[in-house]
Amino acid sequence: MDIPFLDLKAQYKSIRDEINQKILDVISSQKFVLGSEVEDLEKEIAEYSSVKFGVGVSSGSDALIISLMAFDVGENDAVVTTPFTFFATAGAISRLKARPIFCDIEEKGYNLDPEKFEELLKNQVKEQGPSSIKATIPVHLYGQCVDMTPILDLAKKYELFVIEDAAQAIGSEYPAPDGQKKACSLGDVGILSFFPSKNLGGFGDGGMVLTNDEQLAQKLKLLRVHGSRNKYFYDILGGNFRLDALQAAVLRIKLKHLDDWQRKRRERASYYDRIFTESGLVEEKLVQIPEALYRDSGAECFHTYHQYVVRVRDRDKLRDHLNEKRVNTAVYYPLPLHLQKCFSYLGYKEGDFPVAEKAAREVLALPIYPELTAEQQDYIVSSINEFYKS
Ligand SMILES: Cc1ncc(COP(=O)(O)O)c(C=O)c1O
Repeated sequence: MDIPFLDLKAQYKSIRDEINQKILDVISSQKFVLGSEVEDLEKEIAEYSSVKFGVGVSSGSDALIISLMAFDVGENDAVVTTPFTFFATAGAISRLKARPIFCDIEEKGYNLDPEKFEELLKNQVKEQGPSSIKATIPVHLYGQCVDMTPILDLAKKYELFVIEDAAQAIGSEYPAPDGQKKACSLGDVGILSFFPSKNLGGFGDGGMVLTNDEQLAQKLKLLRVHGSRNKYFYDILGGNFRLDALQAAVLRIKLKHLDDWQRKRRERASYYDRIFTESGLVEEKLVQIPEALYRDSGAECFHTYHQYVVRVRDRDKLRDHLNEKRVNTAVYYPLPLHLQKCFSYLGYKEGDFPVAEKAAREVLALPIYPELTAEQQDYIVSSINEFYKS
């Protein structure tokens, strides 16, 4: 059985007529950059994320850059983040000549560890006096929120801006002390990516910054168009971070289906959980299924399963075996960021973040998408069973 890692063709097939008509409408309007489609999408995504303002931008990576620019992060500033994330999280910090400071993750959710975060901030203040750390970027990895309450408390204490990287976590919920909160509504800003493979993906690149702060939203909108309030007059230094109308139009159609798709992802995740457990692989500690940390919090979207990631023994050999069985898998991420060549100037070494390093050796992302069938899931788990037990 041939099982793709993601089947976007199947998704397109289910909404083809709606999408095609909408694309033709945009083409007829000949309005391709920003405009009413983008404004409507901004309102709809803001509402979906329980946030007041959305600013559509060219990608998730640009959403990170423009957020850091809005907080005037630059040379002499440092930003704390996780080493176990997509490159763009730390790349954005370096691009602005600020310094990424990495902090290890916790073992269960692969997200920034609040205890280590506190230790890092305390040490930094002890060693360097009043901190040069200006912000933090917690990343809601794989679709599950960071334990934000302690992170937000510490950010307040140490006066850090909080940029939630929710590129993988649109709609994910977190049980805050004052009720369930959506990803992007917890920090000063939150960012989303609409890369095609995301839970809400466009037909190309796109992203959004979300915030409850009206002034900040205005600044982000200014930065998005080269800092120009009136055409050819520039108030601040910005860039071209604009979102296309065609992307916004596609995303608006897809947004109407997102709740249904999120539910189907959860159903497939819980089916995986069940068949892995029944197979005995979990009990024998050959496969560790993902922990849904907020499952019992009462939130519907306690995890949005952008990825279904297991920890396994002999990961690379298992992956080869699954390849032979025509089951496509992925590794997010094989090398933590502190060990990447481009960040060697930061001076980190192997052993600095053992939890992230161990995760990089053990994690394996299995196919998960609304169109995945139970038969396909059965085949994947039995192929894994065959690897360990034959
Ligand atoms: C955690 C994280 N941050 C940022 C990004 C960057 O988003 P984009 O690819 O839209 O630039 C991604 C995309 O993969 C991501 O997974």
